[in-house]
Amino acid sequence: MTTRKPIKKAVFPVAGLGTRFLPATKAIPKEMLPIIDRPLIQYAVDEAREAGIEQMIFVTGRGKTAIVEHFDIAFELEATMGERGKDMGVLDSSRATPGDIITVRQQVPMGLGHAIWCARAIVGDDPFAIFLPDELMIGEPGCMKQMVDAYNEVGGNLISVLEVPMEEVSSYGVIDPGAANGALTEVKGLVEKPPVSEAPSNKIISGRYILQPEVMRTLENQGKGAGGEIQLTDAMARMIGSQPFHAVTFAGRRFDCGSKTGFVEATLALALERADMGAEVRAIAERLLAQPG
Ligand code: UTP
Repeated sequence: MTTRKPIKKAVFPVAGLGTRFLPATKAIPKEMLPIIDRPLIQYAVDEAREAGIEQMIFVTGRGKTAIVEHFDIAFELEATMGERGKDMGVLDSSRATPGDIITVRQQVPMGLGHAIWCARAIVGDDPFAIFLPDELMIGEPGCMKQMVDAYNEVGGNLISVLEVPMEEVSSYGVIDPGAANGALTEVKGLVEKPPVSEAPSNKIISGRYILQPEVMRTLENQGKGAGGEIQLTDAMARMIGSQPFHAVTFAGRRFDCGSKTGFVEATLALALERADMGAEVRAIAERLLAQPG
């Protein structure tokens, strides 16, 4: 196995407007919406830490400061909880190591590709991970750990993929698959939001990436793509051929928490699994389902 430059940095683009959740997201960032008792951003940061990532780069916008506050030390809260003898373990994972969170600003939400490009000075010449926090990935090990393990084998660029029914592909970035080897599939091409008739497969990009720093140069010279936005998929597509590019089929579950039904599904699925509330939630769900619609 060749030694690769390790993945120590991750970019979390969190500057989107979150219009599908309005009015909830008028004053609260979408990434702070909780699945039970952890905000979406916390699940993503925990997944990054598990994969050995040390530097978290948030690409934020106006109204997103609550995300940074979340990872700070809440002095008054901790002092009061301490005085009252409350267990402060619940706060552990929300405390960042000093200096490991960096924010950059995307002044205008011009698309995911543009958001990533805003982090170019911090990424520098290192390969880096990207997390879309509204895609909740639940697995053991987590999705990024699975991708880092694959990266240590093949290097280059990797994207996480999953299969969806063919009629749904037009909402996503889709891969043109080449040779497959276990969970790894070679990527021959990428297309953002294709019409069903032109989609090269039903394997969609699902919110986790490991990219080489050259993508920043590619994004720099790129115009707008689908939806009038600067698309990350278009920049990645232009890198295929000059660098290794693989898809990793995630062994685990993915919930699209950027959509309302996906958010409800994630809440219910995770609540049913919890030792402290699963039985109670199951009884509630059964009672509700038994009622006439
Ligand atoms: P989405 O397509 O989910 O957009 O972006 P959105 O604005 O968050 O939500 P809707 O569609 O209006 O409800 C995917 C990811 O890319 C980020 C978002 O924050 C989200 O994590 N993003 C998107 C940016 O950071 N900047 C952008 O210009 C666009």
